[in-house]
Amino acid sequence: MSAFWRLEHLLPEYVKNFEAYVPSRPDPELMKLYGCSHLHRLNNNENPLGPSIQARKAISGFSPERAAIYPSGDSYYLRMKLAAKFNKKPSQFLVGNGANEVITFVIKAFCEQGDNVVTADRTFAVYEWVAGFSGYEAKLAPLNRFGFDEQRILDLVDRKTKIVFLCNPNNPTGSFWNIDRLRSFMDAVDGEKIVVVDEAYAEFVEDETFPDCIKLIEEYDNLVVFRTFSKMYGLAGLRIGYLCAQEPLVDAIRKTCVVYSVNAIAQEAAAASLDSTDHVLGTRELVRAGKSFLMQQLDGLSLNYVSGQGNFIMIEMPISDTLAYRKLMKRGLMVRTMSGFRFPGYIRVSLSHLKVLEELVDGLKNIL
Ligand SMILES: Cc1ncc(COP(=O)(O)O)c(C=O)c1O
Repeated sequence: MSAFWRLEHLLPEYVKNFEAYVPSRPDPELMKLYGCSHLHRLNNNENPLGPSIQARKAISGFSPERAAIYPSGDSYYLRMKLAAKFNKKPSQFLVGNGANEVITFVIKAFCEQGDNVVTADRTFAVYEWVAGFSGYEAKLAPLNRFGFDEQRILDLVDRKTKIVFLCNPNNPTGSFWNIDRLRSFMDAVDGEKIVVVDEAYAEFVEDETFPDCIKLIEEYDNLVVFRTFSKMYGLAGLRIGYLCAQEPLVDAIRKTCVVYSVNAIAQEAAAASLDSTDHVLGTRELVRAGKSFLMQQLDGLSLNYVSGQGNFIMIEMPISDTLAYRKLMKRGLMVRTMSGFRFPGYIRVSLSHLKVLEELVDGLKNIL
């Protein structure tokens, strides 16, 4: 905002004081800026294999004529497919323009002036941001050894808390709560608050004790689960994610959702992706190989890292994260600086093809 703006007084304080997120520029602009001839995006935990064959077919089979027609306003066929996959009713799903949009639906549905939401201090920041620019306090519980700490979260919950956001597994640390921890947390909350479990990276989790909260929904009427097609399913550019909960809860949240925010190509590609078992297995294989390679190399370089579930690793750098970012960018490697996640000095790297990770390791050796 410019130094003086006549209409500034119309803005609520919480919007005025909110620092807008600055997205990265498009690749060609960044390549010009950093003077690199190629760019590997290791900053957003996207799937380097891209979309599945099934989704590719759905995308290329989409007739341009249909661009003139509004999409299904409630992702009708996709919800039917999700229901069949997870053994639920279609009415238990609400689809949004990415999981980011469903975060806003839930906050809009439940929060009013004076309310707060509770989450961790070092997790996916959008819960905190949406609460903040909507005028609600986000109370942040410190992580305990890189994981969500149930007691610290419960200590922050008060009369004005409406929603608790858990990120499982956590972005950026990869830590997760197993089924027993999750159940005991839900029991401690005792149905008094909405508990959102964001499972954006669930499809990458290989640990058998991972809860898969969609299975728990029938047991807890206050549980909302988020999933996305941006990560495992490689559809980040189409913007589609969803939530699942018991019917009355979904009916309440639906009131605050803007229909037609999810485009037709995204709905069809997402529905087709649900059949892509090979793609999921192939991606897991790639992530497993990448993780093992990178951890071995980082050990060799004596760099500390935080690695858990998910398709990313956080690396502690002996130089500032922004300096590391700039140096790696000059070599065509885009990583995520972690200062914004309250992990100054760390970078987060998305796991990718071995050739790309080899380039990253060379880059790290060079800049150190
Ligand atoms: C934990 C978590 N939740 C939600 C999202 C948002 O996903 P979407 O692309 O569906 O908006 C992300 C994206 O990085 C994420 O890491």
